[in-house]
Amino acid sequence: FSYPEPALQQELRSTAEAIVAPGKGILAVDETNEGIGKLLAAVGSQNTENNRRRYRQLLFTTENLSEHVSATILFDETVYQKTDDGTPFMDLLKKNNIIPGIKLDLDAVPLFLSQDEVTTQGLDNLANRCAEYKKQGCRFAKWRCPLRIGENVPSVQAINDTAQVLARYAAVCQSQGLVPIVEPDVLLDGDHDIVRNQKVTETALAAVYKALNDHHVFLEGTLLKPNMVTPGHGCSKKNTPQEIAVATVTALRRTVPAAVPGIAFLSGGLTEEEATVYLNAINQVNLKRPWALTFSYGRALQASVWKTWAGKDENTKAAQAELLKRTKANGLACQGKYQG
Ligand code: 13P
Repeated sequence: FSYPEPALQQELRSTAEAIVAPGKGILAVDETNEGIGKLLAAVGSQNTENNRRRYRQLLFTTENLSEHVSATILFDETVYQKTDDGTPFMDLLKKNNIIPGIKLDLDAVPLFLSQDEVTTQGLDNLANRCAEYKKQGCRFAKWRCPLRIGENVPSVQAINDTAQVLARYAAVCQSQGLVPIVEPDVLLDGDHDIVRNQKVTETALAAVYKALNDHHVFLEGTLLKPNMVTPGHGCSKKNTPQEIAVATVTALRRTVPAAVPGIAFLSGGLTEEEATVYLNAINQVNLKRPWALTFSYGRALQASVWKTWAGKDENTKAAQAELLKRTKANGLACQGKYQG
């Protein structure tokens, strides 16, 4: 057989559709312990398990978070943590109608003889890890593969590796009842222009969808988490939100099958406001779009939260208000209704 059995298809499809329900998107808080450690250091706090827990507790106890957040992506440790009063985060999220998901990719390591390109690890033993997270209550997963733009990169080697790794990961997820979010991330680093980014994004996505088909991945039970098509950070020519929106939707229309229920962008180093304004423009473009187009932001939902919290309990309410401000803005932007 080349398709999952009907009950599994139904489960995957309904989870994927719930995550991209109108007006909603994903809160990505799957920073590794090393990654969140840098954020904690910036607010003068130590990278302890308790501080990581306190910060995530602040996010998950935000009242009415689910108004514009359908789902959240967790790092392994967070799946097992509890609030101050002993409620498991997983129970709290479920009660608040937020679907928990898990980051499954592990370390990035160099691709042999490449020009600073990487592959991601974590495929060994992946089915067992999926089964454990499913048992804990996760209903979806994500796996990010970064692709760097340079004069001669991404190479064919890196693009094919990304496609194969993501397809194998997606197939294993579905076999264990998790919706895979497939994340090929064409990085913002570099001085390339928007045209080059669009071409690279199209090439990468075309390779990814060929590989997903080769691995019998059931597309209705998947989501895509791509970069937006923008000029590189170091490019001297800037583009308007409308130009970025047209380039992004054009690249997606050329490569992402209509069977995919939704596309949830990463923020990739854009500012909070840029990420919202671009998402809004994307949802206003005058081109046919068969998928929901929403957010799965990490940095662009949390930058102000970190600044306001600053590691201090007395700032919790104010930091939660910042989170709600961003989720509301993006909840409007994913419907093309944001007004700055
Ligand atoms: P950013 O939105 O910070 O780029 O996060 C992307 C991501 O993959 C988090 O899950």
